Amino acid sequence: MSATSRLSRTQTDKLRTGSDCLHFANRLLKSNRVAHGQGFINEQEESLTLMGKATGLAWEKLPSCFERPLRAAEKSVFLHLLEQRVFDRTPTAYLVGEAWLGGLRFHVDQRVIIPRSYFVELIPEVIPQWLPKVSDIKHVADICTGSGCLAVLLAKHFPNAKVDATDLSAEALEVAAINVKEHKLQSRIKLHRTDTMTALLKGPKFDLIISNPPYEPEGIYQRLPAEFKQEPKQSLVSGKDGLDVIRKLLVQAKKLLNPAGVLVIEVGGLRRAMEKAWPKMPMTWLTTNDGLDCVVLIRAADLTAPPKALPRARRR
Ligand SMILES: C[S@@+](CC[C@H](N)C(=O)[O-])C[C@H]1O[C@@H](n2cnc3c(N)ncnc32)[C@H](O)[C@@H]1O
Repeated sequence: MSATSRLSRTQTDKLRTGSDCLHFANRLLKSNRVAHGQGFINEQEESLTLMGKATGLAWEKLPSCFERPLRAAEKSVFLHLLEQRVFDRTPTAYLVGEAWLGGLRFHVDQRVIIPRSYFVELIPEVIPQWLPKVSDIKHVADICTGSGCLAVLLAKHFPNAKVDATDLSAEALEVAAINVKEHKLQSRIKLHRTDTMTALLKGPKFDLIISNPPYEPEGIYQRLPAEFKQEPKQSLVSGKDGLDVIRKLLVQAKKLLNPAGVLVIEVGGLRRAMEKAWPKMPMTWLTTNDGLDCVVLIRAADLTAPPKALPRARRR
């Protein structure tokens, strides 16, 4: 079977230049309604990224292939990548083996969720406003680290801090180790395989704990586009109501934060569920560029134990 057998030869034989191929790809991605949102906002970004992989050109050099005929090998690789994106719904980041967050490159593959967290907006300026001087921050944690992208961002923005990063998935931690090494941060970031923060409970306390945990309720996961189901399910789903990991995090963070510390959690669409589950706990919803309330900040002093289940009334 030829590499491009699922695409119409009558259409692909006509494609010559980089622009021909990109226009073709954009139309195909759109007409097949591929879902974006895994690090890309539209079909143009995705097709340019695939073109970068096929030609070996860096993003800023891509215009140099727009007007020239593509070499046979470049065209064949591009169409094969496109085919996998459209017909297998393989996310572009997995096809090219990398994702960018906060201007930094991260290795990614099917062992980890593709980086796209709100923390990229919040770590540089918003979160430091809730903390003592950046240079005084000595110990921070990234819980549910996946590819390690947020642990790396933390290490870059808090230059005097040690970072502990945890994940339950041994496979995800293999990818995190690659990224920690690529950013030369092995001496500052320690990776732990553990449930939430369990392995950290006996160690020193933290000035800042962040987490982008799985938070989709099982029912919502079932309705996600096929692309998202190629990411590890454990990265996305957290029980029936989405709160399973967050519940553990709140209990453990209470024991692990310094008195002036803060806990910041990305919770997706769970604001109402959280306010219902912890009605007395003061929570600050951080502003993000899209105007949605998806990230909550809780000060150490405001952490309360989750409400205990009420005893069932006995029938007489
Ligand atoms: C939404 S991903 C976040 C990854 C990364 N921090 C990011 O922003 O791209 C959630 C991660 O939590 C991990 N995870 C799921 N349940 C966990 C648990 N109970 N304890 C620790 N990690 C868990 C998954 O393996 C996954 O890597």
